[in-house]
Amino acid sequence: MAKDTVSVTDNVTGKTIELPIYHGTLGPGAVDIGKFFREFGYVTFDPGFVSTASCRSSITYIDGEKGQLLYRGYPIEQLAEKSSFLEVAYLMLHSELPSQDEQQAFLEKITRHTMINESLKSFYQGFNHDAHPMAIMVGVVGSLSAFYHDSTDIRNPEHREIAAHRLIAKMPTIAAACYKHSIGEPFIYPQNALSYCGNLLNMMFSMPCESYEVDPVAQKALDMIFILHADHEQNASTSTIRLAGSSAANPFACVASGIAALWGPAHGGANEAVLHMLDEIGDVKNIPKFLEKAKDKEDPFRLMGFGHRIYKNFDPRATLIRKMCHEVLSKLGDENDPLFELALKLEEIALQDDYFKQRQLYPNVDFYSGIIYKVLGIPTNMFTVMFAIARTVGWVAQWMEMIGDPDQRIARPRQLYEGPVMRDYVEFSKRS
Ligand code: ACO
Repeated sequence: MAKDTVSVTDNVTGKTIELPIYHGTLGPGAVDIGKFFREFGYVTFDPGFVSTASCRSSITYIDGEKGQLLYRGYPIEQLAEKSSFLEVAYLMLHSELPSQDEQQAFLEKITRHTMINESLKSFYQGFNHDAHPMAIMVGVVGSLSAFYHDSTDIRNPEHREIAAHRLIAKMPTIAAACYKHSIGEPFIYPQNALSYCGNLLNMMFSMPCESYEVDPVAQKALDMIFILHADHEQNASTSTIRLAGSSAANPFACVASGIAALWGPAHGGANEAVLHMLDEIGDVKNIPKFLEKAKDKEDPFRLMGFGHRIYKNFDPRATLIRKMCHEVLSKLGDENDPLFELALKLEEIALQDDYFKQRQLYPNVDFYSGIIYKVLGIPTNMFTVMFAIARTVGWVAQWMEMIGDPDQRIARPRQLYEGPVMRDYVEFSKRS
């Protein structure tokens, strides 16, 4: 029972009710408005969920003022420096870091699930070669439930676990196949001896006719980017997955819905949009013109990779990615890469501009990730696919947490209706 309460008075009727306030371990308390409608007959109105906690969660914590991101309590900076993507995946799914034996067993399970059903490969042939890889990915992931019925009973914990492993393990294979299809090259089978990211790079860039060595710098950079993207509490795609999952839809269908939500340029699609924007800006001398466009309310142009609903000082992931950009460019590219220089200059100029300062708009995770992907040879239309691979870990962990929550019910938001009041049908002959 919550000790703290907030009193709410309806000034029309004079009725007052006490609403409990729940306190988590960190972050703002939450007022339980569950009885609001029953008591007052009003619904609450919060477009974009600016003040609404849609669930309880113990996975990820963000402090937007401090620029802090924790996975299961561990700071993102420590995980990025010391952990690996699959260790983070284990942490997300099991709440604790794995022991050495647990880690080994988990790696074996993920490695053993990387193949996709052979028939699934023919599914790709139905897509035109120029289809966007995200469009293919939504379709292919959605179709997984047709191939893996034996892990779709969401009330069975073993099914849930196998589905989670399958999704995390198969996502790189599916993604690489999207890429190979788009360039007309044969699919490359996964190699169990390679790491998670090494395997992805191999499936994307090797060819049956010649040998390919995974670059250790590229593999490490990708692994770290994936750690940074693994989860981000109740963002648009994760909330989509929880909403879809609340109806007891199977996890493959839920993750397909998350991929679709991620694709939007206001969310994960921003990494691709940043590169297009930098190409369009083209030169440092054009930055002021584009900043004016971003500030002009009549102009739909926004500075892509800038701004975040929660982070109001800096995005800790952007800080880590910017640092990694220097490292990757010095080892694999050119630290004076004109695109990177343009991005750095754009950040510098925007951060001095009153418009961006007043609205607390800072570079987000997507601002620099595309530059690293580009140096790794990953084409622009695959950037959001990369994001989807990494975020699958968070999606699956959040989905599992939701299924295990005793308070979980079908999600069914209310609305403020502003349409016509009831009226009679007008016969066609009487309409002019
Ligand atoms: N460029 C110019 N102005 C911006 C930008 C931007 N990138 N972002 C926000 N603003 C302005 C808005 O116009 C608004 O101004 P106003 O108060 O004068 O009306 C103010 O800042 C607040 O912006 P909102 O859109 O209300 O903020 P919200 O929290 O709803 O949106 C979002 C956050 C979607 C990230 C937004 O900042 C944006 O569109 N950024 C560009 C796209 C992007 O980088 N998305 C990736 C986000 S991170 C991720 O999903 C992985």
